[in-house]
Amino acid sequence: MTSSTKAIRFEQTSNARTYLILNDSGEILAYFSLSFKELTLDNVKISKTKRQQLDGISRKAEKIKVFLIEQIGKNTSILDNPISLNFILNEIYAVLSDVKALIGGRIIILECEDNKKLLDLYIRHGFTLIEIEKNSSSTLRTLYIHIIEK
Ligand SMILES: CC(C)(COP(=O)(O)OP(=O)(O)OC[C@H]1O[C@@H](n2cnc3c(N)ncnc32)[C@H](O)[C@@H]1OP(=O)(O)O)[C@@H](O)C(=O)NCCC(=O)NCCS
Repeated sequence: MTSSTKAIRFEQTSNARTYLILNDSGEILAYFSLSFKELTLDNVKISKTKRQQLDGISRKAEKIKVFLIEQIGKNTSILDNPISLNFILNEIYAVLSDVKALIGGRIIILECEDNKKLLDLYIRHGFTLIEIEKNSSSTLRTLYIHIIEK
């Protein structure tokens, strides 16, 4: 299944919502998909204090409910695309801040390829890398950020 087919399927089944950022001519400048998941912290090397910060309650929390940025990207086929990651993230925070006010939620995560340039980009935008132990089979890295209060 391609990522666009998956996005449509997830939209139709309410498993995620995909947002498009358009210009005045209706061209797609950028997109993002938001969903939710349970983050397992069994094999994650983090302090009890950080665990509590993520969970909000328990210093021993092993599962955390999080919002997930499933897809995020800008349309590289648009010449001089004015959209930056900062712009897309602010749109995401606006959506999730409303969701937080309505039903709660604390953390947003992003799972991305293990590429230093990409990871540094998100860290510069306020995300923190979670150190999963080396025996984990996933090649994806997980980053998180707390939802900003309105
Ligand atoms: C992520 C994104 C929205 C950031 O947009 P931006 O704020 O305008 O920043 P840039 O596109 O200039 O990217 C910043 C740097 O990260 C690098 N980068 C971006 N995506 C990358 C990727 N998937 N793999 C490796 N490096 C990447 C860029 O090459 C750039 O490096 P440079 O500073 O040496 O030129 C955009 O790069 C994008 O759409 N990337 C492709 C999709 C993607 O990777 N999404 C992330 C999935 S977790």
